[in-house]
Amino acid sequence: MGIIPKVRNLDCLIDSDDIASAGISDGRPLPIIHAIGMDDLPARRATLSPAVAAWLDQTGFTAAAGELALLPGPHGIDAAWVGLGTLKNSQGHFTAFGDLPNKLPAGSIWAIADDLTGPERQSALLAFCLGAYRFTEYRAAKRPPARLRLPKDADQRSIELARAIWFARDLINRPANDLGPAELADAVRALGDHHHASVTIISGATLERDYPTVALVGNGADRAPCVAALDWTGPDASADAPLIALCGKGVVFDTGGNDIKPAGAMLRMKKDMAGAAILMGVAHAVMAAGLPIRLALRVGCVENAVSGRAMRPLDIVRTRSGRTVEIGNTDAEGRLVLCDLIDEVAALNPAVIIDAATLTGAARVALGPDLPALFCNNEEWAARMLAAGSHSGDPVWRLPLWQPYDSWLDSPVAEMNNVSSKPFAGAIVAALYLQRYVPGEIPWVHLDTFGWNDQSRPGRPEGADTQGLRCITAALCEHFR
Ligand code: BES
Ligand code: MN
Ligand code: ZN
Repeated sequence: MGIIPKVRNLDCLIDSDDIASAGISDGRPLPIIHAIGMDDLPARRATLSPAVAAWLDQTGFTAAAGELALLPGPHGIDAAWVGLGTLKNSQGHFTAFGDLPNKLPAGSIWAIADDLTGPERQSALLAFCLGAYRFTEYRAAKRPPARLRLPKDADQRSIELARAIWFARDLINRPANDLGPAELADAVRALGDHHHASVTIISGATLERDYPTVALVGNGADRAPCVAALDWTGPDASADAPLIALCGKGVVFDTGGNDIKPAGAMLRMKKDMAGAAILMGVAHAVMAAGLPIRLALRVGCVENAVSGRAMRPLDIVRTRSGRTVEIGNTDAEGRLVLCDLIDEVAALNPAVIIDAATLTGAARVALGPDLPALFCNNEEWAARMLAAGSHSGDPVWRLPLWQPYDSWLDSPVAEMNNVSSKPFAGAIVAALYLQRYVPGEIPWVHLDTFGWNDQSRPGRPEGADTQGLRCITAALCEHFR
């Protein structure tokens, strides 16, 4: 029995009072981090004493992106200069600050220079926090990250966004033996408790009746499936405030089922609940921001296992919508989990339905690990998502809901198959399957994402990643503020 991941405090940020009371700084002023654009370097260098300027020259510092120089002063290290290269915008600051927790001396405490202001300051803070993330549940951090004095003017939204991302990463990194369907549902409950939202967990016979496809996918596993439903109304929202519906694929482990995956393909499948984790993070950020909306989060918590009870190819399931689906491939389980969730929330008359899922390998073949595939039946929402993705530094790339491929899902014995027999356009076909459950008049956003990062980059340590979380959060916060 493990711990249930919860939204936790950012231990890389320290309150000024705590610094003073713990005597951490020995009364010395904290060293300051300055971000330096390449073209500003000569002017900035001119402000230094001759000795420190000579030191800086001898380190070879050029203010290239991410380059770091520690500058001496009367108390020891006085300042850190980090290069922005030629990118002096938010993106440049994200890159510069995202690696500082690892590059600055282990456990050292810093303050961000006061002259760094505006969106660049918030970007720097967010990147620092994201880079300081460690998954230390099963092993201590090899090197404690550097820390920041919590800036007095810190934008609470950046902090809550970082907490949302840590929360989602904790969920994704957690191995499936310690994060089964029940534990994932408990994490939704803990999230709801944190925000005084109502949480219902649907299982057993009620699940069989109301979410038959979720029940079917979970049939093969010893750990029972469930749906976790979180409903929340913003403090300033009226009873008829717009409803945002979020549907997450929470497959805690995907063996493929009877259509079992080869070892290499199965190796990362503890992350197959990343869609759910990302939307739980979005839900945290949206609730913490107190948006004047109503929120309905649905997570299909289920394990796709192999056993004598597991669904088989050629099985036919009657979905919540009443339509029948022939199982062409038991490894196409994500769309089965999502279709009943989407069908349920569509009846609530939402302003938008957003789903997120590690749905297809094909989306990764098309776009690689960094770019979630965006599918959308509504031009305004598509534009909103693309814009939010690019300015939040969490880009998504649109693929078409190409209707001529829809007939590839036809089945000779049921109303549809869960897969196409053609080896083409796998991400599009999966999206078209889901679209069959979305009433045409409801705006619908579908993100087929990766949920993983296989090479450390500034602000993005190797392991769980949350591609799409910041994009969705930004789109919602800007549209419904
Ligand atoms: N969870 C996988 C998709 C996946 C694989 C995401 C690798 C990221 C990396 C999903 O359940 C799956 O197995 N999809 C199949 C669908 C196919 C059987 C039509 C796939 O993509 O191979
Ligand atoms: Mn699968
Ligand atoms: Zn899967």
